[in-house]
Amino acid sequence: MLGDNSTGKEFTITTFGESHGKIVGVVVDGCPAGLPLSEEDIQMELDRRIPANPKIVSARIEKDKAEILSGVFNGFTTGAPIAVTVENRQIDSSSYEAIKNLPRPGHADYPAHIRFGGFEDYRGGGRFSGRVTVALIMAGAIAKKLLSQFNVDVLAYTRAVGPVKADRKFSTEEIRKNRYASTTRCPDFGCSEDMEQAIVDAKAEGESIGGVIECIALNVPAGVGEPLFDSLDADLAKALFNVPAVKAVEFGVGFAISEMKGSESNDAYAMSNGNVVTQTDNMGGIQGGLSNGMPITMKIAIKPTPSISKMQKTVNLSTMEDASLTVNGRHDPCVVPKAVPAIEAAVAVTLADHMIRAGFIEKVLERKK
Ligand SMILES: Cc1cc2nc3c(=O)[nH]c(=O)nc-3n(C[C@H](O)[C@H](O)[C@H](O)COP(=O)(O)O)c2cc1C
Repeated sequence: MLGDNSTGKEFTITTFGESHGKIVGVVVDGCPAGLPLSEEDIQMELDRRIPANPKIVSARIEKDKAEILSGVFNGFTTGAPIAVTVENRQIDSSSYEAIKNLPRPGHADYPAHIRFGGFEDYRGGGRFSGRVTVALIMAGAIAKKLLSQFNVDVLAYTRAVGPVKADRKFSTEEIRKNRYASTTRCPDFGCSEDMEQAIVDAKAEGESIGGVIECIALNVPAGVGEPLFDSLDADLAKALFNVPAVKAVEFGVGFAISEMKGSESNDAYAMSNGNVVTQTDNMGGIQGGLSNGMPITMKIAIKPTPSISKMQKTVNLSTMEDASLTVNGRHDPCVVPKAVPAIEAAVAVTLADHMIRAGFIEKVLERKK
């Protein structure tokens, strides 16, 4: 059985590393042999973590360099485990010593302290830091490369930051082209400027804000999923909830479906160029835990960053008395822009696993002559 830092059944990933440890990395096992893969493929996804505008991200801006340690030979995956790592370079643990007995409200500090008996690495949030999403993103880069061989594409983008919402529809091309060209990862550049301002304002007040990310998976064939207990929506939701700061996930119209009538909520089928399609997208492309061949659409709510410089109430775990806390150090006033590639990765890794499990991807992509 896989441990708790691993996920997947055929395309499995195991992540390791802490925010202020030596390295962060991932081992991907079960990636089919014969996939062209380079460090540049992984680097491209890693570079998407850091939005270009330093005003809206933490001062910890690391130029991460991905290194493939195994599982790739002559430019192709071999079918053996693929290990990829990045070094942690810009480490400054000083601000964490002062607050190590003062758990940050909203962060993992207190429950992690209880769960791991005080042995947890609290520096920089340790294993619970957003930094650890680097490992997920590297696994996601491999999953995306694999999925791209089958024309499957995963695109996430920012729909809302705090009170600022982008309320128009985006074309797939606009999302694909603009999302990483905008600092907030919103495909509408005008709206992105307003989002940026909201983040800058929050920071000036010692505050933080959250937002909404949308994600769409294109060209997933019908019939992917393993009901009843590894349904596609269940596994996607699980992967998404394992991204730090995710607090809600909806498929299709989500909670709004509870107020519709059956005749409104059912996605009617039609033929289009010989293919079965649905005319609406209320279900988000999944029924009975299986993909229906239409785009899979998800909305993900991201909470405001827990670490804020505004004074908050907490407790002192060494004296067991009430206390107060202001968090200094390097924190993102809004983690939404940095979370976008992590959301894409979570979805890609889950889809790669399920496409192999359902028999849409074989263990060797193409046999050598
Ligand atoms: C990309 C990313 C960056 C993050 N950066 C920070 C940060 O700078 N400061 C902080 O307090 N939380 C940050 N978080 C959120 C915490 O990691 C998260 O809230 C915490 O581990 C508790 O987990 P939960 O929110 O899932 O309950 C970040 C999350 C992500 C996805």
